[in-house]
Order: sequence, then structure tokens, then C-alpha cells
Amino acid sequence: MILLDDVTKTYDRRSQALKHVSLKIEDGEFVFIMGRSGAGKSTLVRLLMKETEPTEGTITVNGVELNSLPRRRIPMYRRTIGVIYQDFRLLKQLNVYDNVAFAQRVIGKTNREIRENVPEALRLVGLSAKYKAKIGELSGGEQQRVAIARALVNQPKLLLADEPTGNLDAKTAEDVMNLLDEINRRGTTVVVITHSRDIVERMHKRLIVLNRGTLLSDKEQSGQ
Ligand SMILES: Nc1ncnc2c1ncn2[C@@H]1O[C@H](COP(=O)(O)OP(=O)(O)O)[C@@H](O)[C@H]1O
Ligand SMILES: [Mg+2]
Repeated sequence: MILLDDVTKTYDRRSQALKHVSLKIEDGEFVFIMGRSGAGKSTLVRLLMKETEPTEGTITVNGVELNSLPRRRIPMYRRTIGVIYQDFRLLKQLNVYDNVAFAQRVIGKTNREIRENVPEALRLVGLSAKYKAKIGELSGGEQQRVAIARALVNQPKLLLADEPTGNLDAKTAEDVMNLLDEINRRGTTVVVITHSRDIVERMHKRLIVLNRGTLLSDKEQSGQ
């Protein structure tokens, strides 16, 4: 699903965000990426979304080699990936339903498809009852679940979450992680960036650790 081959990203001469990183994530995996602030985690997400280019190396996502992906194909490519951010990035003036429906409208789904897919996504994240609520009326955990529904409604093969629980309390963070785990069990490849050791230890998933732009370790976390 994801292949990085000797990827280096240098923003300017002084800051190397990633240094010679190679890694492979298979279809259907659930992977945590951990590392301190500045380790290069968000840079990795930006590279995978082709929001920025690697200075060296190649990145392949779902069979698409990003260096040779023409600019005009980028929007189509991005639609195959669901992304969730720490700060949710929801449309505050719209209600829950319309936030999720928006993701379908921009890719040209018909109203009929939208009326089918949006309630389904909201059901999956447990927000069916709040479909009319304005974003500002929701708790942080509920807002993050709207963001997850929006990321999922277009049925991406890959879900990238950049510190999705950074703004949530421990219990709510656990609920969100369990939801991502459920989504993974339904077949979506899930990559979660976090700096919470607690979450990683509880979930027993593969863990990739970045340290100042280099890959420090990569191992399965066995369940007991
Ligand atoms: N747009 C940018 N311009 C210059 N330097 C950047 C930019 N984005 C990130 N960096 C630098 O790259 C390094 C990695 O940043 P980032 O990928 O955001 O780390 P993380 O998400 O792990 O906190 C940091 O040293 C950061 O200052
Ligand atoms: Mg970051």
C-alpha cells in the first residue's frame, strides 16, 4: 500500500525533516508512527498526499509512483486517501450531515448516492442521532468522529490520521482509536500518527518510530 524508498525531505539547507527513510506498509495493515515533535511525522503525511515533494527517493502509494504522477492527476489521487487531522478541520457553519456530504459532493456523487452513503458513514461512527447538529454543539470526540466519517465516506483504501487524538481526553482518545481499529478490521489500511505512548502500548500494533527524521525502529507490538 505504501512504499518509501530512501526518502529524504529537506525544506531548506538547515532543516532535514526526513533522512533516507525506507519503509513498506502492506495492504490491510494498522500501523502507528510515533516520534517527538519535529521528528518528521507530518512531513511524511504531506509527502504521501503529494502536498510536498521528496528531495530524494521515491514514494509509491497504492501502486501510484508519486514522483511521476502528473499534476492534473493529483486531485483524483488524493480522493483515494482519507485524512484526519488533530484539529478536525470541519466546516463550522455546516451541520454534521452536510460536513460528511460535502466530501461526496466535491467528487461528484449524485444526491441519491449521498443519501445512502452519508447515513451509513454516520452510523459507523455512532453519530446517526446527531446528524442535524452544528459542529459547535458537539464535544471534541464527536467532532473527531465527524472528521472520521468524512474521511471514510468516499471509501478510501488508505486512512491517514495525523495525531487524531491530540486534542482529546484519554477516554475519548481510546474510543477514537477503537473506531479506527474497527475501520481497519473492515479492510481499510490505517496509519495513525501519535506521540502518545499509552495509546500505542494498549493497541498492540506495528509501531514505526521516527527520531529527528530517521527511522529509529519498526516492530510488531505483540499482544499478551
Ligand atoms: N514548511 C516547512 N518549512 C520549513 N521547515 C519545515 C516545514 N515543515 C516542517 N519543517 C521542519 O521539518 C521538521 C519536521 O517537521 P514535521 O514533519 O512537522 O514534524 P512532526 O510532525 O513530527 O512534529 C521540523 O524541524 C520542522 O521545523
Ligand atoms: Mg506533526
